[in-house]
Amino acid sequence: MRVDKDYIRAKQDRLTEQIITMPASTHILVTGGAGYIGSHTALALLQAGFDVTVIDNLSNSSDESLKRVARIAGKAPRFVKADIRDREQLNAVFGMQPVNAVIHFAGLKAVGESVQVPLRYYDNNVAGTLRLCEAMAEHGVFTLVFSSSATVYGDPATVPIREDQPLGTPTNPYGRSKLMIEQMLTDLAASDARWHVALLRYFNPVGAHESGLMGEDPNGIPNNLLPYIAQVAAGKLRELSVFGNDYPTADGTGVRDYIHVVDLAEGHLSALNALKARPGVSVWNLGTGQGYSVLEMIRAFELASGKTIPFRIAPRRAGDIAMCFADASRAEIELGWRARRRLKAMMEDTWRWQAGNPEGYRTKP
Ligand code: NAD
Ligand code: UD1
Repeated sequence: MRVDKDYIRAKQDRLTEQIITMPASTHILVTGGAGYIGSHTALALLQAGFDVTVIDNLSNSSDESLKRVARIAGKAPRFVKADIRDREQLNAVFGMQPVNAVIHFAGLKAVGESVQVPLRYYDNNVAGTLRLCEAMAEHGVFTLVFSSSATVYGDPATVPIREDQPLGTPTNPYGRSKLMIEQMLTDLAASDARWHVALLRYFNPVGAHESGLMGEDPNGIPNNLLPYIAQVAAGKLRELSVFGNDYPTADGTGVRDYIHVVDLAEGHLSALNALKARPGVSVWNLGTGQGYSVLEMIRAFELASGKTIPFRIAPRRAGDIAMCFADASRAEIELGWRARRRLKAMMEDTWRWQAGNPEGYRTKP
């Protein structure tokens, strides 16, 4: 697809204007806003002048993330500790102050755990989203931005992956819960023209806020590559297992599209803005369009941190695919958004966060 740079630049200028002039009364409800991506998005919203309420049950986070948001933004989001499956609590939140739109991050995301306790995943993710949509409709709120995942493409036949490529079969209940939610929201929007829904398919979110005050704070041993590497660099874990070096990729290790969490957060603001003129369901990949292998990630982290990352080659991880990276042009054309931060910034920001907060948000500031 040809990308017209002047057109995109003009759109970006307009977008910046719109965000800056957003009336202070635009109130966004952020579910799961104490978590990794939600907290960075809450910060970006506050900095852009939105009024923000976070609802989170803190099952995989702490409210310390929101204290850090307040420290950086100079103002705090309103925080309600509540579960999105709890109808009464949702009604209370929607009843407090009119909500203009919801950005919905709340959910469980551990792939391995979802295989062990699938019902917990379907309840939290699918039933949670259903309850949320019911409450939204009841309170006249019809704009929803949903955190989907590139996992809905399954093992893609071709890369880069375009949004109109056929969806695949996710290999685990977590992935299937995302696919079910996408289908549920598509049915909902088809049934009632008042809905404006964005399905944002994230590729691999990494990195941390450049202040070093906010970042990813996984519970226990990390499942994902970059938090694992960061903990090896910090001496918390002995070595990295590289899951397979016999994939059909340049160096045999898995290739992914890593996207800086602050770029990702900004993508939500762009989606929110675009949704005003887009009834129905809109689907956007949020990725960089660039794939990196596990070995490239190790080398880049070593360069950024000055640390050596010991690793060994281990068997492939069940459910893993060889290559996954986005065709990011639809978001660039339709949202005027693209990821700007490069691999170096992703690594440096991750290391600043890890080195400054060895116990994550439990570290005393
Ligand atoms: P996270 O676990 O850091 O954040 C999710 C937040 O939701 C947590 O703060 C948790 O306490 C909260 N939560 C969970 N269930 C809840 C409930 N029933 N009610 C209220 N709050 C609840 O995860 P994240 O990495 O920030 O991911 C945010 C969203 O993006 C998730 O939906 C995830 O599936 C999706 N996603 C994440 C990735 C990734 O790699 N991080 C990739 C693709 C999609
Ligand atoms: C994983 C999930 C996916 C989820 C995504 C973001 C699986 C099978 N998939 O994707 O559903 O949407 O996280 O949360 O869990 N790697 C290692 N050693 C490690 C960790 C990872 O070599 O210790 C490799 C993997 O094989 C992969 C790459 O690093 O090639 C990235 O892994 P990871 O960060 O877990 O993300 P995904 O596999 O893309």
